[in-house]
Amino acid sequence: MGYQPLNPETLASSLQTVSFGKQLTHREEVSSTNVVAHELARGGCPEGTVVIAESQSAGKGRLGRSWESPVGKNLYLSLVLRPVTTPTEAAKLTLLAAVSVAETLHSELTFPPRIKWPNDILLRGRKTSGILCELVTEGERVTFVIVGVGVNLNYARAEMPQEIRGIATSVMEEAGRVVNRSAFTQRLIQSLETQYLSWQKNGFNDVARLWNQYARIEGQWMRAQVGGNNLVGKACGLDEHGFLVLESTKGITERVVAGDIFLLGGPPGTGNNEAPESDEVT
Ligand code: BTN
Repeated sequence: MGYQPLNPETLASSLQTVSFGKQLTHREEVSSTNVVAHELARGGCPEGTVVIAESQSAGKGRLGRSWESPVGKNLYLSLVLRPVTTPTEAAKLTLLAAVSVAETLHSELTFPPRIKWPNDILLRGRKTSGILCELVTEGERVTFVIVGVGVNLNYARAEMPQEIRGIATSVMEEAGRVVNRSAFTQRLIQSLETQYLSWQKNGFNDVARLWNQYARIEGQWMRAQVGGNNLVGKACGLDEHGFLVLESTKGITERVVAGDIFLLGGPPGTGNNEAPESDEVT
């Protein structure tokens, strides 16, 4: 086998959660853990059900991209949630999951990871984790949500395909040691439950505060491309509704809910627009 597979029994029994991960499906290979989680959710599985796999043959990324999923190296996890809420509210779960991944990564490292709007997690500027949330709705009601999380843990740069080698990294590459995948998975599931319960009990404020802490974008000039429109402003951070707040040079406050964001080197008209190191933040 050449790698230490995750042990679902040990994992489920060591979890200090109310419901998350108590139903845990572990597979050697799946097309996508999100697809398996969808099937379980349609079959009526309880909230908190988790699917993990050693590899994915068709790992799904955002915007129709694929997600590299080599065997036995990383974490491929999908969580089934059944929040009693609207699709707009449930969209915040992506931001919440990003906070949980950032918190779990931080516990492995001597430096904080960075969240890149809305939900990539970077280590020293390179992507180590991505989140794909899929909502199934009936009108204005959410039936279930699949929160899919991929984290590059023990993925050596030399093993990454050429296309991602310059932009991706793993915890092992950044920490200089092999990561215990079971312990990481356990901590991530616990953090997901902690953030989820906090959101349900106290609203989005605490999650937004942590998101802002890890995104560190406050005070940065940016351009948001929303549909055909461009909004330029200084970032004030994520608000309690999950909107990214920008303040224009005229002091007008704009709220961005989705779209691409590009960092600028400074305010408009200072010659600093779209700095060479501009970062696409979606
Ligand atoms: C992104 O494009 O950044 C999102 C990547 C999400 C990958 C994870 S791996 C576990 C789950 N199953 C999938 O097929 N995708 C998500």
